[in-house]
Amino acid sequence: MSKAIQIQQYGGAETMQLVDLEVGAPGPGEVRIRHHACGLNFIDVYQRTGLYPNPLPLTLGMEGAGVIEAVGEGVSHLKVGDRAAYASNPPGSYSEVRVMPAKTVCKLPDGIAFDTAAGMMLKGLTAQYLLKRTRPAEGLHAGDFVLFHAAAGGVGLIACQWAKALGLQLIGTAGSAAKCALALEHGAVHAIDYSKEDFVARVKAITGGKGVKVVYDSIGKDTFDKGLECLRPFGLMACFGNASGPVAPFAPAILAAKGSLYLTRQTLFTHIATREVTQMMADELFAVVGSGAVKIRIDQRYPLAEVAQAHRDLEARKTTGSTVLMP
Ligand SMILES: NC(=O)c1ccc[n+]([C@@H]2O[C@H](COP(=O)([O-])OP(=O)(O)OC[C@H]3O[C@@H](n4cnc5c(N)ncnc54)[C@H](OP(=O)(O)O)[C@@H]3O)[C@@H](O)[C@H]2O)c1
Repeated sequence: MSKAIQIQQYGGAETMQLVDLEVGAPGPGEVRIRHHACGLNFIDVYQRTGLYPNPLPLTLGMEGAGVIEAVGEGVSHLKVGDRAAYASNPPGSYSEVRVMPAKTVCKLPDGIAFDTAAGMMLKGLTAQYLLKRTRPAEGLHAGDFVLFHAAAGGVGLIACQWAKALGLQLIGTAGSAAKCALALEHGAVHAIDYSKEDFVARVKAITGGKGVKVVYDSIGKDTFDKGLECLRPFGLMACFGNASGPVAPFAPAILAAKGSLYLTRQTLFTHIATREVTQMMADELFAVVGSGAVKIRIDQRYPLAEVAQAHRDLEARKTTGSTVLMP
């Protein structure tokens, strides 16, 4: 049996219930993992509210770290007793123990603690694909300006550090002076408090009127239109989330009028569709964390049973960096 956090229906944080679930043996291609820590991500909110629908009842959670307890037929990259971590579909990491597909579960280097791993797999693999696999037409080179919204958040603080390591000039936005200070401390070259300042005007001033090559937008509704104004000709709008709500439908001709822009809406799950690519991306993440170039800040910890408070804090923009849930 495993304690787990389930929803029977979509709704607010109060819909999450602590339940006991039976956990069986792993089938072919699966492993059973006992979690030592689970990650909290904004996608958990989208899945809880039904913005991203899943079959119900649903055990939430997309990120975890722990020890492999059993290995199904055909799994060769993991064995019983291995320390491991993952970001993965289907949801289910808000639990003590679960059975899941082995494909996206990676062996964890000894130097990376379980809580660090639970705070970095989904967010760090996302930063990896955004900075290294989501390229503007003219490429991305050291010295280029990019704009990254919610720069003091979980994905944001990892992206600030990784962008700095790549030599990029990351301009971060964040919702308070304290959050802006955090983004600067972690490698952003400028930070804009978009709750008070016009980020379009600041970006134009910082870049000498030219604009940035890429806007990384996880806010959606509130920032999309203004983000287009920040791009230089042929620039890339890389949408990857909707913390303020989904972007409204719009006419593609707008992209022409703003300078022949490119638009993409990315999801991690396309990138980690195969074991090989997942491992390649994870190896890069383990390397930047192992080298100290990217430090994983766990600014909030909650017992798994108090997950409702964790969701409320995340939705109320009270968190910074990563948040982990302890089963
Ligand atoms: N597509 C993908 O592959 C992928 C993967 C991972 C994450 N994501 C997305 O990336 C974003 C960051 O994820 P995360 O888990 O690291 O979360 P997070 O950045 O730690 O938290 C979300 C942040 O968004 C900002 N925000 C702006 N408007 C908001 C609003 N109306 N309500 C709530 N927050 C608002 C807040 O920062 P400020 O107060 O500074 O504005 C808040 O702290 C999320 O949108 C998530 O869905 C996408």
